[in-house]
Amino acid sequence: MSSKSTSAEYFSGSDTLEHKALRILRENEWGDYTLPTKGLYPYQWNWDSMFVALGFAEFDVDRAWTEVESLFEGQWANGMAAHIVFRRDDPSYFPGPSVWKSNHSVPTSGCSQPPVAATIVRDLYEKDPTEGRERLIEIFPKLMSWHRWFHTMRVVSGGAAIAVTHPWESGRDNSPDWDEALANVDPTGVTPYERKDLGHVDPTMRPTDAQYDRYLKLVEFGRDCGWDHTHITREGPFAVADPGITFILMRADRDLRYLAEVLQKHAAVREIDGWLTQARAAARYLWSPELGAYAARDLRTGEFASGVSSAAFLSYYAGIASSRRDAQLQRTLDRILEAAPYGIPSFDPAHEKFDPKRYWRGPSWAIINFLVARGLAEFGFAGKAARIRQSTRAMIEKSGFYEYFDPFTGEGYGGSHFTWTAAIWLAWASPETDAKD
Ligand code: DGY
Repeated sequence: MSSKSTSAEYFSGSDTLEHKALRILRENEWGDYTLPTKGLYPYQWNWDSMFVALGFAEFDVDRAWTEVESLFEGQWANGMAAHIVFRRDDPSYFPGPSVWKSNHSVPTSGCSQPPVAATIVRDLYEKDPTEGRERLIEIFPKLMSWHRWFHTMRVVSGGAAIAVTHPWESGRDNSPDWDEALANVDPTGVTPYERKDLGHVDPTMRPTDAQYDRYLKLVEFGRDCGWDHTHITREGPFAVADPGITFILMRADRDLRYLAEVLQKHAAVREIDGWLTQARAAARYLWSPELGAYAARDLRTGEFASGVSSAAFLSYYAGIASSRRDAQLQRTLDRILEAAPYGIPSFDPAHEKFDPKRYWRGPSWAIINFLVARGLAEFGFAGKAARIRQSTRAMIEKSGFYEYFDPFTGEGYGGSHFTWTAAIWLAWASPETDAKD
């Protein structure tokens, strides 16, 4: 997109995908933050907002910074940036603030989400270091304390990989990555509830009721222990080492380190270096030779997930290189990309649990495609990165700005007018961004 474009031009009634994408961002704006989509997700979601900031940065960098800053209104005293910042109660969503009962003055959920923020803050800062410096100074300590929260409260003792204690924390809610660990959560006695998501989206595209019962049971566990995050990670019913969060945090640590150098925060650089010394051990822990990929691993049983999810390929984005493992990982990626023209499918199409329609059990997601391709390009796999970008472009051109897409047909599923898909279009997938290559 031309940097000279203004938002007024985008409201000129043109129907190009650029203009539609911009309208989606503007229409889903809610003051200083942006809804993922109206109806289905009526609040601020953590990683959604950060991808949205990348989209805004294409035409309004000031608004992009504001999006990031507003997320940290939901940061707890212990450092956690919450996965949903509610601010108000909207009857179209369940479970809302009265179910979570967070400890924070601005009502939030009680878990976090993949920490893409530091990487995106670096992107914003690099767009205009002079203008961005003051805002970076303000946001830096908040990023530090959030990363510290992950490295202390989401690691089981002696471990290095980052745990999720709720599938919602991973952002990949119903991925088969969690199936075995979730099956060990006893849903008996869960407070009766009514799902609201099924009023917005076809049930065949959403998690099952059995999964929802367990999601709610985990919320009740956290709430009943007063959201003691150390206790939840150590003793709670669900703790799985997640390649998604582990690799996204590793990348974010490296970007945070860069920002610490910019601000000459030497103590912070040393602290981040301490976190990064765990990186190789975390990657080793998550490597499954049987699957030929990095995989989720139940921290209570030590068992790997039964198949390969798209998070496996975030190791490049994290900056992890291992010639022996990468040779196998590349073969796995080739096989999966060959099987799915609108890749990357969120779960291996050759696996019995694959479902091309159901949320994180198969559909292709623009944000994951973007992160994986970014890492691949940085490691010199330019052809594969370009292929993933082209197929992301093709699925959006074919179906519009849906939440996720069928990896075989490119058909759009889930919420429509979806803000992060529009943002990824503006920042990375549209033909206008080819000039950035
Ligand atoms: C939902 O409600 O489906 C969300 O993914 C939870 O974060």
